[in-house]
Amino acid sequence: GRGGGKGSAVELPPGGVAMAAGCFRRSIASQLSKVLDLPPENLIKSISAVPVSKKRHVADFQLSIASIIENSSGDCSAQDLHLQAQQLAERLQCDSVVSAISAGPGTVNFTINRELLAKTVLQQVWKDGSEYGVKSELFSTVPRQKAVVEFSSPNIAKKFHIGHLRSTIVGNFIANLKAVLGHEVVRINYLGDWGMQFGLLGVGFQSFGNKEKLKSSPLQHLFEVYVQINKAAEDENTKKLAKDFFRKLEEHDEQALSIWQQFRDLSIEEYIRIYKRLGVHFDEYSGESFYQEKAQEVLKMLEDKGLLQKTIKGTGVVDLSEKKDLSTVSTVMRSDGTSLYITRDLAAAIDRMNKHSWDTMIYVTDKSQSNHFQHLFQILKLMGYDWAERCQHVSFGLVQGMKTRRGEVVFLEDVLNEVRSRMLQNMTSTKTTKETQDPVETAEKVGLAALIIQDFRGLLSSDYQFSWERALQSRGDTGVFLQYTHARLHSLEQMHGNAELTDVNVSCLQEPDAISVLQHLLRYDEVLHRSSQDLQPKHIVSYLLTLSHLAAVAHKTLPVKGSAPAVAQARLCLFHAARSVLANGMKLLGITPVNQM
Ligand code: ARG
Repeated sequence: GRGGGKGSAVELPPGGVAMAAGCFRRSIASQLSKVLDLPPENLIKSISAVPVSKKRHVADFQLSIASIIENSSGDCSAQDLHLQAQQLAERLQCDSVVSAISAGPGTVNFTINRELLAKTVLQQVWKDGSEYGVKSELFSTVPRQKAVVEFSSPNIAKKFHIGHLRSTIVGNFIANLKAVLGHEVVRINYLGDWGMQFGLLGVGFQSFGNKEKLKSSPLQHLFEVYVQINKAAEDENTKKLAKDFFRKLEEHDEQALSIWQQFRDLSIEEYIRIYKRLGVHFDEYSGESFYQEKAQEVLKMLEDKGLLQKTIKGTGVVDLSEKKDLSTVSTVMRSDGTSLYITRDLAAAIDRMNKHSWDTMIYVTDKSQSNHFQHLFQILKLMGYDWAERCQHVSFGLVQGMKTRRGEVVFLEDVLNEVRSRMLQNMTSTKTTKETQDPVETAEKVGLAALIIQDFRGLLSSDYQFSWERALQSRGDTGVFLQYTHARLHSLEQMHGNAELTDVNVSCLQEPDAISVLQHLLRYDEVLHRSSQDLQPKHIVSYLLTLSHLAAVAHKTLPVKGSAPAVAQARLCLFHAARSVLANGMKLLGITPVNQM
């Protein structure tokens, strides 16, 4: 029969097609469906893998009674639920997949045949590789979509603050997640490349600019010029010159435009180089400047639709109040007829729909812009664009206290350099650190992992206090720990040769610490599913931290070295599977796993 006697090897079915881990859920659901007389599809959602805890090995899956009787009889007491669980458990039978059934408070618990569990999980990880968990039936009902993800979006010549960093890593995560789940993703950087700052920069560059410096480090130089000219701009004459320069830009004066173009091009070049260090790329750098004229068309459309109202001051507003009494308005036009931030955003949203016909569009910024996006979506709705409902603002909280040796964060590059040098210092001061081929590169990747994990551990909406020390701890729930675990598992494989799945004896993987790892691997699809629903990376983060802890324990108690060949091989397979899923999850979060540190 299935599962076989003791000592059976994994038999890969012909063609190497493995049994899906989801098969367990389906198999349980089909038995339940006969007893409960409900379609199995409705039951699958109520069956979940049991999180590995201290009271481990209770079971592998559980059915929540409350979730299946939801609609039938209304509220149930805890006692009721327990009773129902017991009654249901009694009516179910073990089979070739399920080896034990029990009732808990409000749940029916299922234990999977031990060897089948090991065999299935390992096969699945092998077969699906970087798509492990993604092909789960949990996603089978989700249609393939096209998603626009707009993130990072710094302003040229202004500070790249921590909010931009957060937007960059959160947006990258969301785009990665959508892409791995099979959706088409367009990554857009909505650069702040227009506005009065370019009037000031144009004038400032004449007095304080240096062509060499602009070429070698444009972001830094433009920022310096901007700071200097801002001081000078207290004088009325400079102010006037800056205004004139910006007016020239708006009127497409060729000379002014070519200066602006140079500022923009050189800045983008440098951004691309720095984003690369972060492992981030964009499909489009279409910033605010691109929507300058289209914003005028939007004003025209608003006027035609009777949505644009003039105030006494001459500005143009859209009435967003329910009672249409102008109690909530959004200003879309200055008194001189020029557009505002929100007008350009209206133009950008409409343009992206025309260009990409996306199914969802996600904007990633800090929560201070929540009102802005609410207004934006409301106006689109009023304009008759039903797709406004498919726009989403993913907002995040504020981060306090991030300082580098140079002081307050002004450039993204400062943060990257700081985390790299701090990590390098930590690495050279700990004796356990092995000789690495490229310590600087390793320090950067480990340091970035530390930043990302610190940022992703909590709910995105919560504020937190930044701490280099906490982020860079080698023990505890940090990115350093994830990287360390990955490197250790990798070197294990290096030392003992690659694991071969075909001749693995799964009966060698029955120790509690091995089972814990397997049970945890079984849950990966559910965790991905949760993050895909609420777009919170924290589910994946805590999953990977637990995986690392479990793998570290197993690494200690289940040695490969000195074990009988069959045992050693089986353990290598287990560790390979753990490392593979760890690497998948890390990449999803925007972390590049290191092989040694
Ligand atoms: N450049 C803006 C800022 O730094 C962020 C842009 C956000 N995206 C948008 N479509 N408005 O505050």
